[in-house]
Amino acid sequence: MTALRPNNLRQYSDALHLRSGQRLTLRFVEPDDAEALQAYVRGLSQSSRYRRFLGAASELPPSLLDGFTHAGEGDRFSVIAIASGDGTERIVAEARYALHADPASVEFGLSVDDLWQGHGIGAALMQNLECRAAALGATRLFGDTLRSNAVMMSLARKSGFAFQASPGDWKLVRFEKPIASEAQEIPCTRWRLAAERIDLQATV
Ligand SMILES: CC(C)(COP(=O)(O)OP(=O)(O)OC[C@H]1O[C@@H](n2cnc3c(N)ncnc32)[C@H](O)[C@@H]1OP(=O)(O)O)[C@@H](O)C(=O)NCCC(=O)NCCS
Repeated sequence: MTALRPNNLRQYSDALHLRSGQRLTLRFVEPDDAEALQAYVRGLSQSSRYRRFLGAASELPPSLLDGFTHAGEGDRFSVIAIASGDGTERIVAEARYALHADPASVEFGLSVDDLWQGHGIGAALMQNLECRAAALGATRLFGDTLRSNAVMMSLARKSGFAFQASPGDWKLVRFEKPIASEAQEIPCTRWRLAAERIDLQATV
């Protein structure tokens, strides 16, 4: 699979609709977002950062930041949810997902800005990731979380994920869900075009 070209990325944005009626833009992270993304990660509470990165980290190390800002490299993709208002834009959530082969599955992790948690962004983002996984031809979506992360466990349960021990680390729980091959009625139609484009590039 070939990496998406950076100058093409913005056209593949989706909308996330929250319970409040607010609409967020969800788009791939681009190299120009590096500073804002790092500021977002630094701005998370210590506990949110720990839960997201499964260990202590005050910011994204340079190599990881570089990976986050190059969507498609190594079959890994990062997206950010952006709230707009008063002429400003603010990153309020991020997710990173990776496509694994045999069996085709998508692994993901996500975070929501502490001030924005509890408003349905995590649930909407996970629904969107299901669509992305389906568009990539994955039959399974999964992630690992700390056993102590009650919010993530609750969110995963409500979103229809099943739990099992995470291989190799007793502190983690794996949540996973089979993905229907046909994408559901979820807002990622434009992303499907991006996936088709990747397939096209991959066959060249
Ligand atoms: C886990 C996380 C992504 C959830 O995002 P969110 O936007 O706050 O979640 P939502 O508002 O969509 O909530 C979905 C469900 O989670 C559960 N939940 C949310 N906040 C909760 C809280 N404070 N206590 C208990 N359960 C909670 C509820 O079941 C909720 O469903 P409901 O709104 O119908 O009651 C967010 O809390 C976060 O970023 N945490 C830090 C990083 C992290 O833990 N990442 C997960 C690593 S895989």
